[in-house]
Amino acid sequence: MSEPVIIERYAENSAVQVIRFNRPEKKNAFTRDMYRTMTDALNAANSDDGVRVTVFFGTEGCFSAGNDIGDFLAAAMGGSMGQDLIDFLYALAKAEKPLVSGVDGLAIGIGTTLNLHCDLTIASDRSQFRTPFVDLALVPEAGSSLIVPRIMGQQRAFAMLAAGEAFSAEDARLAGLIWKVTTAEQVEHQTLSAAAKLAAKPPEALKIARDLIRGPREEIIARIDEEARHFAARLKTAEARAAFEAFMRR
Ligand code: COA
Repeated sequence: MSEPVIIERYAENSAVQVIRFNRPEKKNAFTRDMYRTMTDALNAANSDDGVRVTVFFGTEGCFSAGNDIGDFLAAAMGGSMGQDLIDFLYALAKAEKPLVSGVDGLAIGIGTTLNLHCDLTIASDRSQFRTPFVDLALVPEAGSSLIVPRIMGQQRAFAMLAAGEAFSAEDARLAGLIWKVTTAEQVEHQTLSAAAKLAAKPPEALKIARDLIRGPREEIIARIDEEARHFAARLKTAEARAAFEAFMRR
């Protein structure tokens, strides 16, 4: 059976680590195991001199459909989401080296919000970014309620995070959510080439520049925690459970 997340190097001896979501039969929806694998890879990169940049990819035509709704439903029915999602969000927010993403196709929920922690995102022109948190009776996560209004202003942030409106790749570029739009054929190549260029730069200067640009982590971590408290409470509500059941029943 193929692994749902593949961690590999772009090429032999390359300093570019690739984290590829590989669960296409479920639109690359993230399970708790997948979060754990990705968290370990991100945390290991911080102390591995051989890794200078981490790249996220999905599969052809699908970046990720977000958190596995089956896991949400299990939590709504008395189980627990555990720490796996939150650990992944911390690992993203605390990553010490550049994160780059190449999006092709659907990027839903955390498939959108993980890009907020990336320094460069290149998306194919058929990509779509969407965060239907409120439709699922949930609230924004990953620090998005802090980062998105800063990036794109109050109204577009509301349209994305509360109204759940879809943003095309071009909308996302104009809103400052992503760096570039290209074709589906070119997206991986251009993303890897941007990552390889970053990996060739003086790492200490790049780290300082990145830290200055990203600003204090504490603020983002505090917002991730605040959102997570609401999120955990929302998961237990009747309206959330009804929304998860409706999706699973389709
Ligand atoms: N969690 C669990 N399973 C998911 C999933 C998710 N987030 N997204 C897709 N899947 C599964 C579907 O249940 C389906 O499984 P099945 O073949 O066993 O029935 C499979 O992936 C293919 O999805 P399907 O809905 O048939 O594909 P589609 O092309 O018609 O629609 C989406 C794709 C992504 C638009 C749709 O699946 C969707 O809306 N997913 C939920 C997205 C979401 O709300 N995520 C959470 C955000 S917080």
